[in-house]
Amino acid sequence: MDLITLQSVSFTYPDGTRALTDVDISIRAGERVAVLGANGAGKSTLFQLFNGLLQPAHGTVRVKGRAVEKAHLKEVRRMIGMVFQDPDDQLFSSTVRQEIAYGLINLGLNGEHVEQATAWALKVTGLEGYENKSPFNLSGGEKKRVALASVLAMQPEMLVLDEPASSLDPLGAARIIDLLNSINSGLGITLVFATHDVDAVPLLADRVYVIDKGEIKLSGPTAEVFAQKDLLRAHNLRLPRVAHLAELLEREGACRFPSPPLTIGQARKALLEQMARKEAGK
Ligand SMILES: Nc1ncnc2c1ncn2[C@@H]1O[C@H](COP(=O)(O)OP(=O)(O)OP(=O)(O)O)[C@@H](O)[C@H]1O
Ligand SMILES: [Mg+2]
Repeated sequence: MDLITLQSVSFTYPDGTRALTDVDISIRAGERVAVLGANGAGKSTLFQLFNGLLQPAHGTVRVKGRAVEKAHLKEVRRMIGMVFQDPDDQLFSSTVRQEIAYGLINLGLNGEHVEQATAWALKVTGLEGYENKSPFNLSGGEKKRVALASVLAMQPEMLVLDEPASSLDPLGAARIIDLLNSINSGLGITLVFATHDVDAVPLLADRVYVIDKGEIKLSGPTAEVFAQKDLLRAHNLRLPRVAHLAELLEREGACRFPSPPLTIGQARKALLEQMARKEAGK
């Protein structure tokens, strides 16, 4: 089932900036989808169209087959949890606990349920001990995790994350990747995220859309998109570093890869197989 469908969507900001042109996107339940694009490509604009924060000038945005309109925005926003690029656009409560509980109370949940869901969200985002701090006194990475916790606590059907790992330290970023994968596989929550971190994409996406100057230029399963090296580079993106190393080794005739490895795990497996073959042929 398609959760979100965009058909020929165009969007222009009031100052005349054309941010999206003729965008077609469809996201099925349970998928993990990355949106890749350079600064200013239109990723954040696209995400704000998903839940009606912005309305398209042309084309339609449908959630579960129904056009996103004012009358059912509440329902749409309950279904689609949005984590903004800048946590300061999202946080407003005086303590971390209140920030996370706010959405749950708004949904009309009872005290015990609110407490349980808040405790769970604090735990999985590594924020235990921060309950009584003001979100505004936290570091950038900590704020990012509070914003994610407040959305996760509501267990939406789909999480839309604008740069989920930006401003997180390496361990924090790795934890977020693990957490997102586990809520996708364990709870069936659909993931759509924008990122500049191409190295993280193969770890977190089944499918990729490449956007440049407001247009979708390339889309498909992650491995197929990263196989289009020249096209990616033409849109100011790069390969994951492991894939770049594999490309250099292959060009120098040192190794051959049946398909370009995108992660350290894939590269390790391919290299060990080659070494074993060489060893056997000695
Ligand atoms: N409120 C606004 N008013 C006018 N133009 C805007 C507004 N917000 C964004 N834009 C413009 O729309 C285009 C797309 O911006 P958007 O924020 O969607 O890009 P992005 O892909 O999210 O970039 P980044 O990677 O830097 O976050 C840019 O040219 C930007 O300057
Ligand atoms: Mg953005």
